[in-house]
Amino acid sequence: LDRGATAVAHPNIALIKYWGKRDEGLVIPNVDSLSMTLDIFPTTTTVTVSPEAAGDTVTLDGSPAEGEPRQRVVAFLDLVRELAGRSEPATVDTRNSVPTGAGLASSASGFAALALAGAAAYGLDLDPTALSRLARRGSASAARSIFGGFAICHAGHGTGAEADLSSYAEPVPVPDFDPALVIAVVNAGPKAVSSRKAMRRTVETSPLYPSWARASRTDLSQMRAALHLGDLDAVGEIAERNALGMHATMLAARPAVRYMSPDTVAVLDSVLRLRADGVPAYATMDAGPNVKVLCRPADATRVAGALHAAAPGSRVVIARRGPGARLRTE
Ligand code: DP6
Repeated sequence: LDRGATAVAHPNIALIKYWGKRDEGLVIPNVDSLSMTLDIFPTTTTVTVSPEAAGDTVTLDGSPAEGEPRQRVVAFLDLVRELAGRSEPATVDTRNSVPTGAGLASSASGFAALALAGAAAYGLDLDPTALSRLARRGSASAARSIFGGFAICHAGHGTGAEADLSSYAEPVPVPDFDPALVIAVVNAGPKAVSSRKAMRRTVETSPLYPSWARASRTDLSQMRAALHLGDLDAVGEIAERNALGMHATMLAARPAVRYMSPDTVAVLDSVLRLRADGVPAYATMDAGPNVKVLCRPADATRVAGALHAAAPGSRVVIARRGPGARLRTE
């Protein structure tokens, strides 16, 4: 008897970044991170257990997945099967509404949806913490997309099973803070270096990495206080310095990893001009050239116009806080 489940999950953008692992096999982050789950670009994934099939079938946006993307999904299914004590192959169908590999966190929504649908299809009954831990094994940022709104992902402690158990995300309730996040998609093409490779290189070769990781702890505690107060300027300043610091660690890696393009810099300049004009707007960037700008919802249209004017070839979208991953019942 085939058993299938469909899950929907949204990407998240970290205000305090995860960059670097201390265990690559278990996907254990070096630092705590804190993010906002968005209300745009969901990933929808259906997992169907197919006992008669010869092996797993993985379809990504309508085409058969190959190479590393397929391998990551199959390895993840192996983990789900191990936890469930099952061995049948599965059919996985994933649909993204965002360009894959463009630094818009499609691996976060992707593995959050796969964890939820995979666990349901194989009959695993997991609480949100266990689901988040499972999603982390696919991609650490995915641990946060299990939850809506703001979420913190703990780097955890110890090694091996202790690290695995202690590294997961949980919601950070922030009832009175509901900013807009304006995203300038300056280049939707595939990224030059995957975040996985780039963070490995940074940890191994960048002399700036340890000091950024240390500063990130202070950033996190100050961020929690700023969120609690609903202080957009403080949240924005902390997020911006945390992200720019992360990019500085990559620039100091050997060889350097540089995700910023001329359009990225032009958009960052426009953010400074907005602030000079009295509009609170603060930038963050991930493993790609796109820029995400935190601002008041009432300013979002003006901010979007300014970002687009700075990089006319870009596509600009306005996001707000969004929901956690959920199963779709049909
Ligand atoms: C820059 O979660 O994609 O977006 O765990 O190797 O799959 P893996 O990496 P991934 O890295 C995300 C890095 C980031 C910052 C963040 O989202 O915290």
